[in-house]
Amino acid sequence: MKELKIQPIRNGTVIDHITAGQAVKVLHILGIPGSTSSSIVSVAMNVRSRIGRKDIVKVENRELDRHEVDKIALIAPKATINIIRNYEVVEKHRVELPDEIVGIVRCSNPTCISNSPQEPVKSKFLVISKDPPRIKCYYCEREPEDIAERII
Ligand code: CTP
Ligand code: ZN
Repeated sequence: MKELKIQPIRNGTVIDHITAGQAVKVLHILGIPGSTSSSIVSVAMNVRSRIGRKDIVKVENRELDRHEVDKIALIAPKATINIIRNYEVVEKHRVELPDEIVGIVRCSNPTCISNSPQEPVKSKFLVISKDPPRIKCYYCEREPEDIAERII
């Protein structure tokens, strides 16, 4: 029997197949809670799925931007983004890291040019593995181990 953990939504975005334990980080990426967001949000954690446990985040009346989706790909590479309109899933795609990520992760090397207050250089990373996510600084080649903690 298919158990219903949280209600279906009429309009908005369902982020499904989030790596179990990462839902709170996904909320943080989306700026929830926050003064600019008044959407109704529901969260389910450790839901049983075909392949182990997963988290789910449903945000009503909101669609995500590219930056937000790239950040989610860094912490939950198997997540799917489902766009819901009038209760129907009208779009579904898996998150996918681009080959380069610019301006969304801070380099872990304090002397990296991308961390220099004098230089207007945005951080830039080359993606060396999409799942599990591994990235390497374009400037200093340092590979951050704690990607989730370094998301700007
Ligand atoms: N969903 C929702 N509200 C709706 C429609 C769907 O909250 N009105 C949620 C479902 O609960 C599910 C996700 O959106 O978590 C994707 O829905 P659907 O594609 O119908 O589910 P599955 O076929 O199980 O998805 P997948 O194959 O991606 O696992
Ligand atoms: Zn660097």
